[in-house]
Amino acid sequence: MRRPFHVRVEPLPPWLDRQRFLGDGDWVAHDLANGHLKAEASLERDAAADLAARLRGVGIGGSLIKVEISPPLNRKDLRRANLEEARRYRQGSTGFSHRSARLDDEGRKSLTPEALALELAERARGRRVIDACAGAGGNAIGFARAGCKVLAIEINPGRLAMAKHNAALYGVADQIEFVQGDARELLPKQDADLLFIDPPWGERYNKERVTLSELPPCLELLECSLHLPKRWIKAPPSFDPASLPGCRVEAIFGVGQGDHRRVKFLLLEI
Ligand SMILES: C[S@@+](CC[C@H](N)C(=O)[O-])C[C@H]1O[C@@H](n2cnc3c(N)ncnc32)[C@H](O)[C@@H]1O
Repeated sequence: MRRPFHVRVEPLPPWLDRQRFLGDGDWVAHDLANGHLKAEASLERDAAADLAARLRGVGIGGSLIKVEISPPLNRKDLRRANLEEARRYRQGSTGFSHRSARLDDEGRKSLTPEALALELAERARGRRVIDACAGAGGNAIGFARAGCKVLAIEINPGRLAMAKHNAALYGVADQIEFVQGDARELLPKQDADLLFIDPPWGERYNKERVTLSELPPCLELLECSLHLPKRWIKAPPSFDPASLPGCRVEAIFGVGQGDHRRVKFLLLEI
């Protein structure tokens, strides 16, 4: 039977796993002039509404994603899909699994979900890592659990104390050296195999397009770490890679039912 709703989604960056992002459907991709792609498929009513709800206001790779559906969906379908999407969002990837972990408000909002911190850390297994913006320790602990030796730098003393406490809960405190201070001053004297930067994205970061200069202290940290062989930045999904020429980009998706089609962040490798 013919599926009644024709759906067009654009622009999609070429490095995005389209099938995972868009979900089921016989998606056909077409090139756009700027190297991005447009995807088209015919979907059932519920699937079209769910996709529209999930991609509403989402920017990936520096552009807001547009979803066009014809014939247009009615308000009732969209409302149902928006409510369902809000429910799924609440079931998204969780932070620390340890119930005694300590977090302040900013630490909680900016924490890398545990499963994703471990996924990233596996790629650095056994290496010497500097976590330049360690927060309450989400990534530093992930790296240590993957056998890395970690230098965790954090400017906020209270949050650094939380990171220490949390590392002890996971039994990896002795693999992490905790240093309170400004990474811009400390980095030039440090050596490591990998520098990891998870900058503060800001309370209301721009969901449509964020550039490198809007993610302090990234620019300065990159400039003072040229002696290190590899640098990773955890950037918002809306980050525009054109603002960091030459970087390799990967979209990191969430885990679990509520999140597995959602881009949680971009991993930039320099
Ligand atoms: C996004 S949070 C890090 C979250 C961490 N990756 C996690 O998963 O728990 C960014 C942290 O960088 C810290 N920060 C900002 N500027 C800094 C600087 N110049 N040097 C060191 N830390 C800095 C902030 O205080 C904040 O705690």
